[in-house]
Amino acid sequence: MTAKKVAVLKGGGSLERTVSLRSGARAQAALHRLGHEVIPIDVGPELLAQLHETRPDAAFVAMHGRDGEDGTVQGLLETIGVPYTGSGPAACMRCTDKALAKYLMCEAGIPTPDFTSFKETAVKELGVAAALGDIEHLLGFPMVVKPASQGSALGVKFARSSEELPGAIVGALSYDRKVVIERYVPGRDLAVSVLDSIDESPPAPSAVALPVVEAIPREEDFYNYESRYEIGMTTFVCPAELPEETTARAQQLALEVYRLLGCHGVARVDLMLDERSDELFVLETNVVPGLTETSLLPLAADAAGIDFDELIERILASAFTR
Ligand SMILES: Nc1ncnc2c1ncn2[C@@H]1O[C@H](COP(=O)(O)OP(=O)(O)O)[C@@H](O)[C@H]1O
Ligand SMILES: [Mg+2]
Repeated sequence: MTAKKVAVLKGGGSLERTVSLRSGARAQAALHRLGHEVIPIDVGPELLAQLHETRPDAAFVAMHGRDGEDGTVQGLLETIGVPYTGSGPAACMRCTDKALAKYLMCEAGIPTPDFTSFKETAVKELGVAAALGDIEHLLGFPMVVKPASQGSALGVKFARSSEELPGAIVGALSYDRKVVIERYVPGRDLAVSVLDSIDESPPAPSAVALPVVEAIPREEDFYNYESRYEIGMTTFVCPAELPEETTARAQQLALEVYRLLGCHGVARVDLMLDERSDELFVLETNVVPGLTETSLLPLAADAAGIDFDELIERILASAFTR
């Protein structure tokens, strides 16, 4: 690729701001090494003015969570005509809303844990409390209660009994107006990153699934925000030690989900492998996967023989293949 002027969008006001700053810093360093001109932007009220002023050839979106991952920034970049890395606004919205993504996966026959989902208005105005018994009957305990649109396990809680359920719902609703309540899948925590191939022209570059990563928590009872980013609290194994057919199935599912949700450039699909039945279930898709030293996408790329700089170059290329 010829040298480009690239604005790296990082930080912003989301709860994952610190992680995003780290992802952005690493992307910047790689873009420098690759010979591109880098304009670092810690996203704030000046974002649009800065983009107008600097007129970059592309924006490299390294923002996780709100705004950078939910389609807001992507929509604005479309409006001002700046090409950008990764998925477009609609795919971002489909992925960020875990409830929407799960309903779409159900319609498409892609396995995802049984669930229900509602907005806080159901609690405040529709008397959803009267349906908690039905939810228990449908999903059983423990249940996983999560805000529909956070990342990094923020606000994810296990409810082990009827007593714990209302509190977990209220807790999730403090992060987002919508909650997802899911059947608990006992088993292994897997992630499959998908990357578009670099050398194909628009409109449809083909996507490849990278080797499967397994996240093995060391102390916490599940893979949470702390353990994900504090080096040493989670062990990552890549390629995950799995039977060949399980690996192939996980990669196949990730590619199906990537296409179903309309992702572009790169994404990471999180799955659970049920230890009792060996079935795979898709939990969610991240459209701006982390790029930190401990993140899963760089690890998976490395296992596929794609070093960090090449990974960044391929993500950058996605800005020009839409
Ligand atoms: N249904 C579930 N069964 C078992 N563990 C789950 C389930 N849902 C989430 N988890 C655990 O919580 C983690 C975070 O959940 P996830 O849906 O990927 O949300 P996010 O990563 O956006 O916070 C998962 O990686 C997994 O360890
Ligand atoms: Mg996840």
